[in-house]
Amino acid sequence: MCSELLEMAGTLMIGCVVLCTVGVSLADYPYKEAYVDQYVDHFNFLSYGDKTFKHRYLYQDKYWVKGAPIFFYAGNEGSIEGFWEATGFVHEIAPQFQAYVVFPEHRYYGKSLPFGNSSFSQPYLGLLTVEQAMADYAVFLTDLKQKLNATDSKVIAFGGSYGGMLAAYMRFKYPNIVDGALAASAPIFMQDPSGPHKFFFSHVTKDFRDVSEKCYDLVKLAFRQMNDLAARGQSGLDEVASKFQLCDKLTDAASYSQLLGWARNAFVMMAMLDYPYPASFMAQMPAFPVKVACQKILEASDPLKGLAAAAGVLYNTSVPCYDFKSEYIPCADPTGCGIGPDAIAWDYQACTELALPDGSNNVTDMFPVIPWNLELKKEYCQKTYGITTRNNWAGIEFLGLKISSSSNIIFSNGNLDPWQGGGISSNISDSIIAVSVIGGAHHLDLRASNPLDPPGVIQAREQEKRIISSWIKS
Ligand SMILES: *[C@@H]1O[C@H](CO)[C@@H](O)[C@H](O)[C@H]1NC(C)=O
Ligand SMILES: *[C@@H]1O[C@H](CO)[C@@H](O)[C@H](O)[C@H]1NC(C)=O
Ligand SMILES: *[C@@H]1O[C@H](CO)[C@@H](O)[C@H](O)[C@H]1NC(C)=O
Ligand SMILES: *[C@@H]1O[C@H](CO)[C@@H](O)[C@H](O)[C@H]1NC(C)=O
Ligand SMILES: *[C@@H]1O[C@H](CO)[C@@H](O)[C@H](O)[C@H]1NC(C)=O
Repeated sequence: MCSELLEMAGTLMIGCVVLCTVGVSLADYPYKEAYVDQYVDHFNFLSYGDKTFKHRYLYQDKYWVKGAPIFFYAGNEGSIEGFWEATGFVHEIAPQFQAYVVFPEHRYYGKSLPFGNSSFSQPYLGLLTVEQAMADYAVFLTDLKQKLNATDSKVIAFGGSYGGMLAAYMRFKYPNIVDGALAASAPIFMQDPSGPHKFFFSHVTKDFRDVSEKCYDLVKLAFRQMNDLAARGQSGLDEVASKFQLCDKLTDAASYSQLLGWARNAFVMMAMLDYPYPASFMAQMPAFPVKVACQKILEASDPLKGLAAAAGVLYNTSVPCYDFKSEYIPCADPTGCGIGPDAIAWDYQACTELALPDGSNNVTDMFPVIPWNLELKKEYCQKTYGITTRNNWAGIEFLGLKISSSSNIIFSNGNLDPWQGGGISSNISDSIIAVSVIGGAHHLDLRASNPLDPPGVIQAREQEKRIISSWIKS
């Protein structure tokens, strides 16, 4: 980790020295890897019969004492190692709870592919559902408890973002298996059709505006200049391409709008990953990337070059030109799906069960108008997968806005995190508790402690630990 950081540019060195000398190292929490056989279809006994697939999980049993709890991370949309590495909080508290730590991978991501390389083609992709993934976890945990002779052990679910939604959903749906859940940065109210959907890009904007009003003005100006140039036709597009140092020419409206999405997505990622130290979760980021980007924008000789330099905080600047077409692929999630097979799986989930934020509008946010709404989603998902969007299903299936029938859940949210508005920010009951993480970006509380942590996350983790402890004792 430190050698990777050392390769990064000059300004980051200070943060790195701190990390390398007194900070965390992945070697502090090694894992073991294993696979279990899992039914490809938990709900239809006829379609695939007893066909199973190899379901991957990571675990650490060296703290485990019989009778102690099981700490289970609900794997989300990516290879499970990434979440293991980004969830140091669980590894740090496991010894004092003498917990068994286990991170099963979400089906259709990483190495847990129910149909191997055919998984992403139809009809096989159809077995990628939230319910199937949750059933994988429920069956897995039940078998694990048997295997460990730990049927009386408490199970605490953890998760961040969609993984946080899954952690909460596991407690909603399987209270017989999961005793409590820490759902960090989990936008579960967004899953209801009448829940919040307009919060996202305005919060990204606020993060930049809070750093510098001038930075915010310049971003707006840069997008306006871009649009003005694009409106002039090919010569204007050529100028945009040259200022951004793009590998490919901008040839038409589609490539230009892909560039706008690419640029906007850099701001999304910087806001989400605005951690106080360099991190490599989801992307390589310097400490406080929002501040770093604003500095670049303020120092630039003209707004467009400033915008390009800001995008370079996310995208790889050690290449001679930006290959924006392979770095950002528009999909059913306006906050980005990433690239590679995981991105297909996520796009499909966004088309089927998951609700996501609306697009940007240049009124409540600093971005160009890039609309995204139910109508556009229906059209896209029909065209891409031949499926009809069922907009109200997630709200019906996952309790919608009425979650008070459940219990023992912590919903934590950071005030820097653009996803905050889709989640739960006030206590729902005596045991469904909202914890706010002041100074926290996307599930900062789940990360390992760090000398550069703001006091808000230290307090949040203490509170979370106390609450988890009370669940285990009761
Ligand atoms: C799946 O595809 C990858 C990359 O193309 C290849 O390395 C691997 O052997 C394939 N696996 C199977 C089971 O076909
Ligand atoms: C679980 O209990 C069975 C029967 O008492 C015993 O044979 C087995 O070794 C135990 N397994 C573990 C992992 O403790
Ligand atoms: C960035 O690009 C360089 C040059 O192609 C490559 O060596 C490096 O691995 C890339 N870095 C990342 C993080 O992708
Ligand atoms: C945003 O709106 C302002 C005010 O209507 C307009 O002048 C500007 O061109 C718009 N910017 C973009 C990128 O569409
Ligand atoms: C929410 O519940 C927690 C734990 O009981 C408590 O510490 C906190 O004060 C409550 N927050 C509000 C706003 O009532």
